[in-house]
Amino acid sequence: MQISMEDLVKFCKQYGFIFQGSEIYGGLANSFDYGPLGCELKENIKKIWHKKFVQENKNIYSLDSAILMNPKVWVASGHVTSFSDPLIDCKDCKTRHRADKLIEEFTSGLETGDGWSNEKLETFIKENHIPCPKCGKNNFTAIREFNLLFETNMGVTADKKSKVYLRGETAQGIFVNFKNIERSSRAKIPFGVAQIGKAFRNEITPGNFIFRMREFEQMELEFFCKPGEDIEWFNYYKNFCMGFLNDIGIKKENLRFADHKKEELVFYSTATTDIEYKYPMGWGELWGIADRTDYDLSTHMKHSNQDLRYLDPETNEKYLPYVIEPSLGVDRLFLAVISDAYTIEQFDGKTREVLKIHPALAPYKACILPLVKKIHAEKALDIYNLLSKQFMVDYDDSGSIGKRYRRADVIGTPFSITIDDNTLNNNKVTVRMRDTMEQITLDIDTLQDYILKKIQI
Ligand code: GAP
Repeated sequence: MQISMEDLVKFCKQYGFIFQGSEIYGGLANSFDYGPLGCELKENIKKIWHKKFVQENKNIYSLDSAILMNPKVWVASGHVTSFSDPLIDCKDCKTRHRADKLIEEFTSGLETGDGWSNEKLETFIKENHIPCPKCGKNNFTAIREFNLLFETNMGVTADKKSKVYLRGETAQGIFVNFKNIERSSRAKIPFGVAQIGKAFRNEITPGNFIFRMREFEQMELEFFCKPGEDIEWFNYYKNFCMGFLNDIGIKKENLRFADHKKEELVFYSTATTDIEYKYPMGWGELWGIADRTDYDLSTHMKHSNQDLRYLDPETNEKYLPYVIEPSLGVDRLFLAVISDAYTIEQFDGKTREVLKIHPALAPYKACILPLVKKIHAEKALDIYNLLSKQFMVDYDDSGSIGKRYRRADVIGTPFSITIDDNTLNNNKVTVRMRDTMEQITLDIDTLQDYILKKIQI
């Protein structure tokens, strides 16, 4: 049985995965801080994404572009004019809603309202008598567009000239650097550019814990290919992304593709699909994969007056590459990983909470447990010092061994290593597995390699 959102929030707070932001001041709506274990898990998610999407591909390059960019970037990309949500107010109880979300919830996801005009959204809400979720009436204002870009000011004066935006997505930093990367890396089409970083959106309806936030992190890949080869690459990345989620241990039954219908596609996209995850509150978008054609490069070429075309060294043909974009939210993957892994098990008449997370993602890879502190601590510290050079290791010397195993289980530590007299006399440790609770004896000399092998992905 999947954990409820309420229990997940409590769990994350109790064990130091996620805290409410600015908590001692009463919090700040929908802002969250990642605690000690949350930092490790988040970092591991990013490391594995980088390994699979950059390191293991000889034609994918990294980028870390600035959050603040020339505002012309956002004019060219269309974010200043059309990066908005359709807002609708209930005239009776004065609550504010996203028109498309009202429809999606009312139809249980059969209609998403994606790509619909405001007129179509309003008519659907009226004709189907969709009620206000708060007061139940169907008495709404007309739709107004609400721009999601966060504005701030650069420099010492707050006049119009200094207005800049916090980036609404990391992707635009990649498009504006397309030529820089092609030239400096001598990259040949097809090639990709990957970026991990913060994005900001003034969401109207943030919520569901870290699912929809105003400040979040994205892992985006823009894969540039030859027009005509785009659909092939689109299908390749659809499978690649799903394979990635399977490899990191997310249960297959909690994942599905949601292909966008033709009428839901944004005007420049020829194909878009979402990978959805079955979150505690229901199915929701985890990963968006889109064929963005040459829209972004062509609009930046027009607005910047720079030639962004690619010169094919073999054919001497100049063209604007098409782009396949798998765009994933770090926080949404974090939420999927942790809710997927949380398990309550009964054994020997007892109950245990265990986070069955892939060892590569686990915050700590191992926990060192000196059986009797006074006798075994020195040797235990030697082993801690040895292993912690390679990966994150926990150390726990208080309470019964059973209690210490439980503490390691609940935070997802895959290997608990007990140091006892056999360690002092024979150099052997007992390694207990988190998921099966099986125990094996290993020589200290082989311990590091044993764990390193198990945490590979
Ligand atoms: N460059 C394309 C782009 O940004 P998107 O569908 O708006 O597309 C991509 O966002 C991914 O970023 C989503 O699939 C989701 O995982 C994540 N994401 C978007 N908005 C978010 C929010 N408000 N809070 C957390 N994650 C978000």
